[in-house]
Amino acid sequence: MAIQARKVSPWDWLRVQVLVTAPALLWGLVAPNRPLVPLLVRWNLAGRAARLLAELRRKYGCEHLWVRFPLRRTLLVLEPAGADEVLGSDANAADPDLKRRAVARLVPGALTISRGDEWKDRRRFNEGVLASGAPHPHRDAFHDLVARAAAALAAAPSGILRWADFETFGQRVAQQVVFGPDAPEPALAVHLARLAARANLVVLPPPAHDHAAFYDRIDAHLDRHRRAPPSSGSQRAPPPGCLVHDSARRLAEGSAAAATRVPSQIGFWLFVLTDALALHVARTLALIAAHDGAQQRVREELGTAAVLTATGVDELGFLDACLTEQLRLWTPVPLLLRRAERPFTLRGGIAVRTEEQILIHAGFLHRDPARLGARADRFAPEAVAGAPAPLYVFSAGRQACAGQALARFLLKSALAALLARHRFELLAPALDPGRIPHGCNHFGIALRARPVR
Ligand code: HEM
Repeated sequence: MAIQARKVSPWDWLRVQVLVTAPALLWGLVAPNRPLVPLLVRWNLAGRAARLLAELRRKYGCEHLWVRFPLRRTLLVLEPAGADEVLGSDANAADPDLKRRAVARLVPGALTISRGDEWKDRRRFNEGVLASGAPHPHRDAFHDLVARAAAALAAAPSGILRWADFETFGQRVAQQVVFGPDAPEPALAVHLARLAARANLVVLPPPAHDHAAFYDRIDAHLDRHRRAPPSSGSQRAPPPGCLVHDSARRLAEGSAAAATRVPSQIGFWLFVLTDALALHVARTLALIAAHDGAQQRVREELGTAAVLTATGVDELGFLDACLTEQLRLWTPVPLLLRRAERPFTLRGGIAVRTEEQILIHAGFLHRDPARLGARADRFAPEAVAGAPAPLYVFSAGRQACAGQALARFLLKSALAALLARHRFELLAPALDPGRIPHGCNHFGIALRARPVR
């Protein structure tokens, strides 16, 4: 059967705008919008969007729909083979206008919105410093600092962990991974959160002065590592096991240049690391705590890991599956938007013209009952190894996440350190592991931690 795409009616276009486009904008293009996230979750807008897309697929009898997102002609892809083809093609780029404008307000030279040779150069640099796809050379040091921060997190005087505690944990670990363990910058974390919140407001002019002050601090860290390499024997040499140190070395060697926009890359890492560590540790713990069997199995797995080392973390298969399920169920980047750089034909029949957009709804694909059956809305870590679901959590292809391996390692290190010494009880929100809601208001998560040994 020939693969075809149908254009939706004006009424259905309006419904897509209300249930898909508007919630994505209101959630926050760059950082989650604190006052609105609880409302969007309470109104179950993500669940309603999934139901609408399933209905349109039935109504139009196809899995490729022409819509407008928000106003530009956009091909909506609702099936994994098409998604793989789009993400695997170099005829498109991950820098559509809306995303470029929002991200550039926080990180002007970010890899994800770069093009052409600049993208190639910045990608090489990111892959080098982040050690994409390989164990990170500083993983032992990272593992130790995560364990210390996890111990501090679990030692909350009330024994109850709330979002503010996870936020502090994320800031602490991210800063130590990026700048090194000897250079805490609490004020910079507040500064970053302010810039990220303002980046959502694409219609306003960028806050130039505040922005420059943030990047001045990153330059100062780079200078610190450039001026005092540890080989100099200086007593005050900064420790080498951090991302800024490796970046400074690449600048000194000439493998990174001004066009690499190194401070921008560092600003991006700091932002995503802070966010990812707080969000995914809190949400994965919440799911594990809601599922007695999963918590028991994680504890058994941790019990067999003789000494919890960086290498030991890689062997925690069940914990890895819990993390994967959390990322599937509450996909952090649910919309993968692409801009066609040149014409191409999808699945042999659907012509996409230059500058048209393609939207892969990863959040929908990750919970599609037509493909996943009863498992779609279940937290089912036991099913991950046997029947992996199509997964676009880190995107795929040329512009897939360059920090995937590092992010997964740090998250698993943190979860392992917390779960090895504590049993968690979920106080809020109420979750039934057999029917996980589409949205999660992470600002409202509360967990009680009880020491177990
Ligand atoms: C669980 C945490 C994370 C998730 C789910 C995630 C997900 C993603 C996704 C979906 C993309 C592609 C976006 C698009 O196509 O529009 C992406 C790109 C990227 N991510 Fe991540 N990410 C995570 C953590 C990190 C971390 C910690 C870093 C770095 C320290 C990082 C660095 C990058 C970079 C540099 C890109 C741009 C790649 C390119 O365009 O070539 N990510 N990430």
